[in-house]
Amino acid sequence: MCGIIGKNGVGNVVPDLINGLKRLEYRGYDSSGIAIATENGLCRFRAAGRIEKMERELEKLRPESRVGIGHTRWATHGGPTEKNAHPHASIGGRFMLVHNGIIENAEELKAAYFSSASFSSQTDTEVAVQLMEKFYKGNPVKAISSVCKLFKGSYAFGILCADFPDYIFSAAKSSPLVAVEGDSGCYIASDISAVDDSCCRVYRMKEGEICRVGQKSIEFFNAEGEKTEKCPECISVDTEDMGKGAYEHYMIKEIMQQPEAVRRTLAELIEGGRVLLPGIELTDKFLKTEMEQVCIVACGSAYHAGLVAKNVIEPVCKVPCRVEIASEFRYSEPLVNEKTLAVFISQSGETADTLAALRLAKSMGAKVLSIVNVRESAIGEESDNTIYTKAGREIAVATTKAYSAQLAALYALSIFVGRKRGTLTEKRERELVGALQELPEKITMTLEGVNETVKALAKEIFNSRDIFYIGRLGDFATASEGSLKMKEICYINSQAYAAGELKHGTISLIENGTPVVAVSGSTAVFSKIQSNMAEVAARGGRVFAVTDAANRCRLTQAQSVVVVENTAEEFKGSLLVLPLQLLSYYTAKLLGRDIDKPKNLAKSVTVE
Ligand code: G6P
Repeated sequence: MCGIIGKNGVGNVVPDLINGLKRLEYRGYDSSGIAIATENGLCRFRAAGRIEKMERELEKLRPESRVGIGHTRWATHGGPTEKNAHPHASIGGRFMLVHNGIIENAEELKAAYFSSASFSSQTDTEVAVQLMEKFYKGNPVKAISSVCKLFKGSYAFGILCADFPDYIFSAAKSSPLVAVEGDSGCYIASDISAVDDSCCRVYRMKEGEICRVGQKSIEFFNAEGEKTEKCPECISVDTEDMGKGAYEHYMIKEIMQQPEAVRRTLAELIEGGRVLLPGIELTDKFLKTEMEQVCIVACGSAYHAGLVAKNVIEPVCKVPCRVEIASEFRYSEPLVNEKTLAVFISQSGETADTLAALRLAKSMGAKVLSIVNVRESAIGEESDNTIYTKAGREIAVATTKAYSAQLAALYALSIFVGRKRGTLTEKRERELVGALQELPEKITMTLEGVNETVKALAKEIFNSRDIFYIGRLGDFATASEGSLKMKEICYINSQAYAAGELKHGTISLIENGTPVVAVSGSTAVFSKIQSNMAEVAARGGRVFAVTDAANRCRLTQAQSVVVVENTAEEFKGSLLVLPLQLLSYYTAKLLGRDIDKPKNLAKSVTVE
């Protein structure tokens, strides 16, 4: 979390820093700041709130420099105030520094090296800049090397030193940072997409590396501060989805892009009517005779995609499948071994907990496969096998199209594994692949078909204090995703329950008029969830059902119904989730929420 940009270029870099920060806002947006090198030393400008606020201040001050660093923050240590905003400065102002990550031993370092009076912020970061000054003996690279050795945790730093105003210094460990030699200067950035230049040479910073960014070239050093040679990498820059186009918000744009996201994802995985998964090296022997379990690990919506997939993998592949929250998995004593297929799902590919869980599973001998949307991200790079979803760049914090692309990839994986294990007949495999290929079209039809009904539904619920979502089996997973969306962008207290579990306590929360969204696509348990809807209605709850065309006529218990297209039983989650995404979107709109950047959240969660 937190975004870093730095530029050493020609002309004034301030507008480039601001633009870069705007492109990085998905990483955090509660405060921002820049520092520039001038003839009179280093200057910094910081503001709590959105980047536009700082931008307005800068328009008045019109600072100029060809060397500068910038930061957009997602607060961890210390609230989102101007004092806690980066860049932080050493006493005397020789060093200014921006940081992404967490210095876990900041308090111990403060106690060991400083009196408490030396700090002006509540951040873990400030200790780093004060230590730079303390260890500095005329060579910033040596000072960075010595200081970084003291840190526990993760960091990506952008650093200015007043004694060397023609350079930016940088160091990184367990936090993404690229260094770029471009046409109009050299850069550092948390994400290559922040660099608006032709990226001639791109270098990904490795564990503990340090660099010195000049105007035309970048020098690299190892953790000891010794000069090293580094080769540029081929990194793709995906800027196609940067604008909102005709849409009011990125979220609705991305909801509407789902057919394409799914189509593009599947196009890479299916050939000649068969799921092939190119590049995936799981032997037939492993899948058929050795594999004893599938263990899916993820966070947030990606975790919900895993829950949906469990309900496909177990019936299709006849193998136990568990789904774990990454932040729990990494600190448990997970029962995984070389007979486990461990599947990690992540849009960003850099979620700290998912990455740590992956490393743990790998160290325990599991076969690791990741489903990742962002290329060249850590999770994809560290996996033995990676399926890249093709959702394109997702900007709204609440995921929609990446989630749909994850489901598509998981369905393809299920068919692939089912075939290898001999648990799918050829006929069923053909039917499923056919249904999968029709999914983009079904998504388009569903989005068109449900839009107006859902808009009207949003008007009925937007004033509610609580909303419940119920479902059974795969529908419960979908209900969980719908409920998360409602919390994320509407800030309405919403809970998802396995429908049969409601009567074991939660039903006491149902009052006259409480909205309950019943996700009811699963044919096998359709009559069961109808009973649960009846139980809710009998206690005054307002039941809104989301079902498919095939089951519509069997529905008797709902106050109103949203109907999605028919598809194979296994893939219904992809359609049932669409009205739930739209419901949150339209509800958030009625409530006047900041839909693309909901409060307290960030898209890329690189801290634990
Ligand atoms: C954040 C995002 C969620 C996302 C989760 C996992 O909380 O706001 O939308 O599902 O992280 O992110 P990942 O990038 O690993 O899928």
